[in-house]
Amino acid sequence: MSGLTAVGAEELASLEFFADIPVAALAVLAANLRPLQAVPGEVLMRQGEQALSFAIIASGRVEIRHVGPDGHVFVAELPPGLIVGEIALLRHARRTATVIANDDVRGYLGYQSAFECMLAIPDIAERMVRTARQRLAAFITPIPVRAKDGTELFLRPVLPGDAERVGRGRVEFSPETLYRRFFSGGAPTAAQLTYLCEVDYVDHFVWVVTDGVDGPVVADARFVRDKDNPGSAEIALTVADAYQGRGIGTLLLGALAAAARVGGIKRFHALGLSDNVAVRALGDRFQARWQCEEPGVVTTTMEVPALDDLPIKLDAVRQIHHVARLVIDAFQYRHICRYGPLRRADSVQLRRPRRRIISAPRPVVASKPARNLASRL
Ligand SMILES: CC(C)(COP(=O)(O)OP(=O)(O)OC[C@H]1O[C@@H](n2cnc3c(N)ncnc32)[C@H](O)[C@@H]1OP(=O)(O)O)[C@@H](O)C(=O)NCCC(=O)NCCS
Repeated sequence: MSGLTAVGAEELASLEFFADIPVAALAVLAANLRPLQAVPGEVLMRQGEQALSFAIIASGRVEIRHVGPDGHVFVAELPPGLIVGEIALLRHARRTATVIANDDVRGYLGYQSAFECMLAIPDIAERMVRTARQRLAAFITPIPVRAKDGTELFLRPVLPGDAERVGRGRVEFSPETLYRRFFSGGAPTAAQLTYLCEVDYVDHFVWVVTDGVDGPVVADARFVRDKDNPGSAEIALTVADAYQGRGIGTLLLGALAAAARVGGIKRFHALGLSDNVAVRALGDRFQARWQCEEPGVVTTTMEVPALDDLPIKLDAVRQIHHVARLVIDAFQYRHICRYGPLRRADSVQLRRPRRRIISAPRPVVASKPARNLASRL
């Protein structure tokens, strides 16, 4: 499936995966790659095999097929410009998915030496691990959970495609719900949705609840680790109007706590409107401490509870913790650290989140009831 001619650094620089990387930084990698060609239907990599190589797809689409331990099959088609086969090399593990050419595919094939050259390119290790985490998250079978009224819903880590699933169909996030979440009216813009859904799962972790395995997103909860204090993170939750008051917020905050424990986060903090009784009741279940920030606004801080103390059934906690581990703890940091900028989760230096997206701008004018309540805090 491969040819013999040399690979040019300029060719690599034109690919989406290497966007913003100078041609000169790609020269050593190019020298370690060889051209790859495959015909439609050709299997490039097979799930379960020992991984020796990775491929960069320059043109043509490939299909990714992953069969989970429970038989759940995940299939996705990747456009050209991306890398495949990197997960197993990053984890020193067997292939997690089968890759099949859907078109005439042209690209580049690399082995361990090329992989190490790639990890040595500034930004590439971080970019690659982020993409690999998003792919691993896509392979996860959603966890079935029950709302208080018995409705079956599904919990899973957010996926990049969720930006389109938010508010799909008849699921409503009313202006009031959005105001309580973002402190401003109106739905998030497309760019904000990308930020909210395309996360790295280590510094920014998001759970979503869907109605049906492939159904619309009806709730989300996230933590964004503090840049100057990696043991602490800001949290935010949103539950669609028709789903509120059915225990989903409690489940999500518990699930966030389980993920935070995996990621080495010990404290949560959040901002809320002081007249938001639901968030106050939710925080109280987690022994939150409240403080009046300014009229109409409260801040809350809480210690991340131990898994045994979460107000969720223990078997669900175990499943949630396991899934969080799969995406957060999936890669051997020490290996990546030799080459890339990532460090262990508990010592990562993080970029400050764009606060207005997780916390949203402060309300300029607090309502009269909010001011009254705030004065009693
Ligand atoms: C805050 C929010 C996430 C809570 O989610 P939820 O699924 O409704 O919460 P739950 O059903 O798990 O209920 C949690 C607690 O809040 C209470 N509660 C929920 N809705 C309530 C309401 N409208 N009024 C009073 N209490 C309410 C519940 O009774 C429960 O308390 P309990 O444990 O003492 O019984 C949800 O209401 C929401 O998305 N609000 C808009 C966005 C927002 O405010 N986000 C938080 C700021 S980041």
